Amino acid sequence: MTPRPSFDLDSLTTCIVLIDEHGVVDMVNQAAQVLLETSSQRATGSRFEELARVVGDGAIDWHHTLANVVRTRLPAVSRDLKLALKTGRDITVDVVITPLNYDRDSRILLEISALDRARAISETENLREAQQRLQHVVKGMAHEVKNPLGGIRGAAQLMARKFEDRELDEYANIIISEVDRLQALVDRMLGPRESLDKRSINIHEVTERVRQLIEAEALDSVKVIRDYDPSLPEFLADSDQLTQAILNIVRNALEAAEADSQITIKTRSRRQFTLNGQRHKLVCAIDIIDDGPGIPDDLMTSIFLPMVTSRPEGSGLGLSIAQLILTRHGGVIQAISQPGNTCFTLLLPMEP
Ligand SMILES: Nc1ncnc2c1ncn2[C@@H]1O[C@H](COP(=O)(O)OP(=O)(O)OP(=O)(O)O)[C@@H](O)[C@H]1O
Ligand SMILES: [Mg+2]
Repeated sequence: MTPRPSFDLDSLTTCIVLIDEHGVVDMVNQAAQVLLETSSQRATGSRFEELARVVGDGAIDWHHTLANVVRTRLPAVSRDLKLALKTGRDITVDVVITPLNYDRDSRILLEISALDRARAISETENLREAQQRLQHVVKGMAHEVKNPLGGIRGAAQLMARKFEDRELDEYANIIISEVDRLQALVDRMLGPRESLDKRSINIHEVTERVRQLIEAEALDSVKVIRDYDPSLPEFLADSDQLTQAILNIVRNALEAAEADSQITIKTRSRRQFTLNGQRHKLVCAIDIIDDGPGIPDDLMTSIFLPMVTSRPEGSGLGLSIAQLILTRHGGVIQAISQPGNTCFTLLLPMEP
């Protein structure tokens, strides 16, 4: 057995897979596990082709390039490959193939980057900073707007009472209902309350509450599928705020859904997982998967920022609120999307 590299590949956001010269996987880092929808346990020892089969026009080129790298021990790049994952999903990637060539190590390093149509975004330091700055601005603005609203509403009510004229009365009511709409928006812009009410919770009570709310909203137009890991232990979290975060994401999936589509809520645990630079023994992963049209390419890197939306009715706050709640729990949200398959993954440490 060849020695493993001593650096921590799991902390990289780049997807790395190490294979031997016969294509058998020796190691797959965390980012690649997310992208290829597998686990280290499942992937290690199986052939790369079993996890992710190269299909379509690129298949012949891929096998040729890989064989060349094995023979010449020179690096190469294979672009625009379509991979059919074991889970049934297709993704499009570029792969940099580098032979390890040291100490008679014959392994080959595959550096996989997902292309635009199936781009994965995860919480990076830059994104987090931009998000916090923007959140600050949005909050400040919300405060300014909130103050005069009460006065406007009160004045409109007084006017409505004084008017004999029905038409004018109607105008006053429009002012009142628009102020109410603005008030609700401003309250969302101010975000969830800052302190967390942490108690020992069962995550499935939270996901079930979300499922019931969504099924009531969806009225049979979509099917919600549950894929729970019943062995998940209870952990400390603010269940109301988590409900809000998950609901915002499931609601987006519902809004993106076309007729007869389905939304899957899946829970799993991940062991020895690094979140925000901190190693955790046990992390809870909640996937919200939908088969809608996917996140528009030009929005992919900015969906977690406040006020970013593609929906005429949207305020663009749902995901930024969800991300804020997860950050306060020491967790993150990741997203990967392509037409027909969008997956938001909430990762949060399970504090006993
Ligand atoms: N499951 C999804 N499928 C396709 N696009 C999505 C999905 N989830 C989010 N998006 C995109 O991300 C954008 C931002 O989502 P977010 O929830 O922050 O705001 P919104 O839904 O537009 O408005 P709000 O949630 O405040 O009502 C959406 O407008 C949509 O373009
Ligand atoms: Mg939303």
